[in-house]
Amino acid sequence: QMYTGEADWTLIGEVKNNPRMHIPIIGNGDVTTPQRCKECFDRYGVDAVMIGRASFGRPWIFKEVKHYLETGEELPPLSFEWCMDVLRQEVTDSVNLLDERRGILHVRRHLAASPLFKGIPNFRNTRIAMLRAETKEELFRIFDEICAGQLPIHP
Ligand SMILES: Cc1cc2nc3c(=O)[nH]c(=O)nc-3n(C[C@H](O)[C@H](O)[C@H](O)COP(=O)(O)O)c2cc1C
Repeated sequence: QMYTGEADWTLIGEVKNNPRMHIPIIGNGDVTTPQRCKECFDRYGVDAVMIGRASFGRPWIFKEVKHYLETGEELPPLSFEWCMDVLRQEVTDSVNLLDERRGILHVRRHLAASPLFKGIPNFRNTRIAMLRAETKEELFRIFDEICAGQLPIHP
């Protein structure tokens, strides 16, 4: 559907419910919350749900979804520090997988999309610096500054 409007899952449901279908069916498109993920399993009967864009800057969504699917309850809010550690790990993995320059370029869009930084007062200049940083060292120094200034619970 090329990202126009909301993803239409009805066709995914039809494919899954076709009695001649004997391969696992993985659904995706616009799954952004644990609740929506559960709804997709329940309503369309898919074997798995894949989450794409909603994981940008929020890779802990998988932990949140898993907890909700297993317990039916929302995971208590994750601490800002913990989420920052996940983002540090993401940067490290990306740099190790690619190289420093390409690894940093790759994670920029994830950092730009992250809900973690929303609501931090006077964040604009830090955000610009964060998205311009060219080395892991520089980026981690900015992360440290962010952590030193704030310890809110993320939304
Ligand atoms: C960075 C990125 C790369 C993607 N690459 C492919 C691809 O190579 N082949 C494909 O069929 N879909 C690709 N997709 C589409 C996703 O598989 C998925 O169908 C789409 O993003 C909708 O799911 P979402 O709402 O969870 O993001 C890509 C999506 C993103 C965001």
